Amino acid sequence: MTLSHHDGRWPTSGLSYGADYNPEQWSPDVWRDDVRLMQEAGVNMVSLGIFSWGLVEIADGEFSWGWMDEIVDLLEEGGIAIDLATPTAAPPGWLLFEHPEFRPVDHDMQPHWPGARLGWCPSNLVFRSYATRIARAVAERYGDREHVVMWHVGNEFGGGNGRCYCDTSAAAFRRWLREKYGTLDALNEAWASAFWGHTYRDFEHILPPRGHDSKNPSLVLDFDRFSSDELLQHYLAERAVLKEVTPDLPVTTNFMVGAEPDVVDYARWAPHMDVVANDHYTRSPDATPQQDVAFSGDRMRSMTTDRRPWLLMEHSTSGVNWQPRNRAKDPGEMIRNSLSHIAHGADGVMFFQWRASRGGAEQFHSGMVPHAGEDTRVFREVCELGRHLRALAPVQGSRAPQGRVGILFDDEAGWAMTKGVKPNNLLPYGTLVRDWHRAFWRLNVGIDVLPPWNSFAGYEVLVVPALFLVDDDTARRVTEFAEAGGTVVVGVVSGIVDENNQVRLGGYPGAFRDLLGVWSEEVVPLQAGDRFELDNGWGGIEWTEHVRVRDAEVTARYSGGPLDGLPAITSRAVGQGGRAIYVSAAIDPASIGEFVGDLLSSDENPLPDGVELVVRDTDDERFSFVINHSLRDVRVPIAGVELLTGLAVDDILELPAGEVRVIRSSI
Ligand code: GAL
Repeated sequence: MTLSHHDGRWPTSGLSYGADYNPEQWSPDVWRDDVRLMQEAGVNMVSLGIFSWGLVEIADGEFSWGWMDEIVDLLEEGGIAIDLATPTAAPPGWLLFEHPEFRPVDHDMQPHWPGARLGWCPSNLVFRSYATRIARAVAERYGDREHVVMWHVGNEFGGGNGRCYCDTSAAAFRRWLREKYGTLDALNEAWASAFWGHTYRDFEHILPPRGHDSKNPSLVLDFDRFSSDELLQHYLAERAVLKEVTPDLPVTTNFMVGAEPDVVDYARWAPHMDVVANDHYTRSPDATPQQDVAFSGDRMRSMTTDRRPWLLMEHSTSGVNWQPRNRAKDPGEMIRNSLSHIAHGADGVMFFQWRASRGGAEQFHSGMVPHAGEDTRVFREVCELGRHLRALAPVQGSRAPQGRVGILFDDEAGWAMTKGVKPNNLLPYGTLVRDWHRAFWRLNVGIDVLPPWNSFAGYEVLVVPALFLVDDDTARRVTEFAEAGGTVVVGVVSGIVDENNQVRLGGYPGAFRDLLGVWSEEVVPLQAGDRFELDNGWGGIEWTEHVRVRDAEVTARYSGGPLDGLPAITSRAVGQGGRAIYVSAAIDPASIGEFVGDLLSSDENPLPDGVELVVRDTDDERFSFVINHSLRDVRVPIAGVELLTGLAVDDILELPAGEVRVIRSSI
């Protein structure tokens, strides 16, 4: 899926550095100080106006631009570029008061009360007309300002209004279904709606999956798809207005790509972004937050056209305020994470937010300037990161080479797997995928986390973890990949349903049964506290299957338990030296680690434990990011010029605990 819009120019010359800037929370004397501190920190771009709708459109059609004019002037004088937002994430109070019907309604039919944000129904076209009007007003007023370099549409689409069940949404859902299926017969067939006699006789009888009861999984999945599409339509409507006024400015919005299925289908949204941007927050507890950074980057990179750089639009300098206990980052952690994002393909690092708020819903969230001010560890690290990013200017525009390993990730599969009633309803999609990613990441193998429609050409290994829903085309292309000599690893809960969310009959994992040369008769989920063991010493929890072998070698069997002696892991030789491996039991991360270690030939120089090596290339140069996640100083064999210190490294890099170095060399 490639749409071409923009010429690919990056909004800043040099890696972007900055934050959401919310001057509306502060008085004008603070603004001047802000610009001084931004210059000191090396900030070159801020995202402005994200939550300012109520402050610029003070009544219906009545605009008050004074403060924003002043801020735009100040930033321009200070040489700071502006990623200017359409402020539509937070509609003004007067608008929601006049139009209570704009409020999104949850599955219990409870409206969201004003006082938060994203309080609008994505299908409400009257709301959309207000949103495009303010987008046009902002674009017409500031679009020709030299320092306005990019549009930031709304904020985190779907974060609050990801699913709306109101009557307007219901009507839009029915329109969407008519367009998708054409006839009721086709819909009834795709949804297997004869179950419980639910066969639909009229499109008007179809409702969103309201309430708590079990709903038809095909309906639920279509509602997820519809909801993502509706929000995308809203984004596209604002984008169209911006492009009409300023055809040459890039347009983006910030994704929330993490490890779980996303609220909207980002891989399907990405082609509509001129710059693909992400917000990433590490969570606690997470034993390997550094892998989470890598995972999101490996996903982001695969969403950009031709592996172009992406933008880290938000992360935090230290603690957030929305977890039960908000962990302050360790000294050096913020810099290490930031440079890891760059290593994984970002050409900019931005934060939420510039100055920690004094009041309001996010008053205890960290910022680039903490409550305690500039004489702080956080602000000193912010300045240090600014210096590093300037030193890394040569990296801008370089791209990560294709990885050895492709791991498939699909929001539709995740939605289908985690909703409705399943043999085991406690399996988290993202965790299953991330467990595989972590094992390869630990071996410092290049990984791309791909949408299933991506080309698989050039990968050595293709991992299909928890790809519960698979269409025929993907199943065929995975098979062709193995036939052409690749290694396919199919993990648990894969290939079970088709794109309509109906079970593929004849044994799991239906879509890959022929490729794997096995089928499984039955899923045998484990109960809480139970564990299975395999005869090679591996083990795990949660999911096992009664596997039957047609044409494959058994490489591990159950030892004890109800499946004692039966196959758990199988391998089949395919085509020109290819292999198809079925890991039918949910082996634990340590076992996955051993599996992956056995799978990949270990001809590479092993790095010290806890050291990550990630590369970005231009046509003739390589930038090797060496990231020491460990608490020990290490020595890494590598040569070139180190960009952060400017020192030549002859053959051994001395890398202190917790630090990052970037080696430039020719290729
Ligand atoms: C993001 C959001 C920001 C801010 C931040 C706090 O999800 O876009 O506006 O709320 O979280 O971590």
